[in-house]
Amino acid sequence: MTPEADGANVLSVRGLSVRFRMRDRAYVRAVTDVSFDLAAGECLALVGESGCGKSVLASALLGLLPGNASVAGSALLGGEGLDLLAADERVLAREVRGRRVGLVPQSPAAHLTPVRTVRSQLAEVVRELTEAPGEGAVAAAAERAAFPLDHLDRYPHELSGGLAQRAATALALVGDAPLLLADEPTTGLDRDLVERTVDELRRHTGDHRALLLITHDLAAAERIADRVAVMYAGRVVEIADASAFFGAPGPRHPYARGLLDALPEREFTPIPGMPPELGALPDGCAFAARCGRVSEACRVLPEFVAGVACHHVGHMDEAEVARA
Ligand SMILES: Nc1ncnc2c1ncn2[C@@H]1O[C@H](COP(=O)(O)OP(=O)(O)OP(=O)(O)O)[C@@H](O)[C@H]1O
Ligand code: SF4
Ligand SMILES: [Mg+2]
Repeated sequence: MTPEADGANVLSVRGLSVRFRMRDRAYVRAVTDVSFDLAAGECLALVGESGCGKSVLASALLGLLPGNASVAGSALLGGEGLDLLAADERVLAREVRGRRVGLVPQSPAAHLTPVRTVRSQLAEVVRELTEAPGEGAVAAAAERAAFPLDHLDRYPHELSGGLAQRAATALALVGDAPLLLADEPTTGLDRDLVERTVDELRRHTGDHRALLLITHDLAAAERIADRVAVMYAGRVVEIADASAFFGAPGPRHPYARGLLDALPEREFTPIPGMPPELGALPDGCAFAARCGRVSEACRVLPEFVAGVACHHVGHMDEAEVARA
């Protein structure tokens, strides 16, 4: 699928699948056979409609899945190092979370400790994760995420959604972890703060660190990502360089093209229909019921080849030709 893992990769994911056991022997296939690499210094944006498996993928990498989940595949940290999917909980808790893999969680309010102020939570993480922190270390950590210093003594319930988001981002940045997973880090922020926040996340990558930016905000992805991975119904259906994806020649997978065409600043044409239930996925291509290019061939699951999983890559219908 993606290039072979090598020493320059911060993360190499191969064949990652997650399914949730439900009642009556049913399963929800939340993530299926996902493979990608993240190189040192790289930002990969992971995009796709709600419920397609983005957060489950991030939770799998951090060993934070609930008890009804089963996981397959591998996720090697440092390219050939620790397999995050096989690591035991003690190793993940002591050595990985916060230190080697940082997380900006999708629900920051749920991750902040309700009975302690932001200052006290930041101070603790600064003490734990930085060597000899100086006097202004807490303020510096807050400022990295544009968290206002005069709100540091507030409790989480006294914060707006946007402020809780910035507090969670500040906490995640403290450890300068080699791999940062940012799951919708700009929810509740106005456009200026969105740009400031994603620019700070991008700065974090430096020479040896990498960022997986999970986002609905395609403008934010375009601003900072080197590559884009598009997920649909639990699978990655396209991985492309961001400049080719957002510029010319554009996305190659019909779903990815639909995502861009739905943007108000582009065609403003929504993708028809809804994604399939992950507990009842169809055989063949999961996008078939919504796809303008569907054919008999699509009854068979398309393989992921040269960055895309589609039987009809490159084919353009009349409307597409007219637009091109
Ligand atoms: N504990 C669970 N048990 C069963 N199904 C689950 C569980 N957790 C998540 N799921 C299902 O897994 C699928 C993927 O969810 P996920 O939260 O990863 O979506 P997402 O792409 O992050 O969506 P959003 O963009 O809304 O955040 C959903 O269908 C969800 O209902
Ligand atoms: S495989 Fe077929 S149904 Fe699926 S995206 Fe490609 S053309 Fe559409
Ligand atoms: Mg999510």
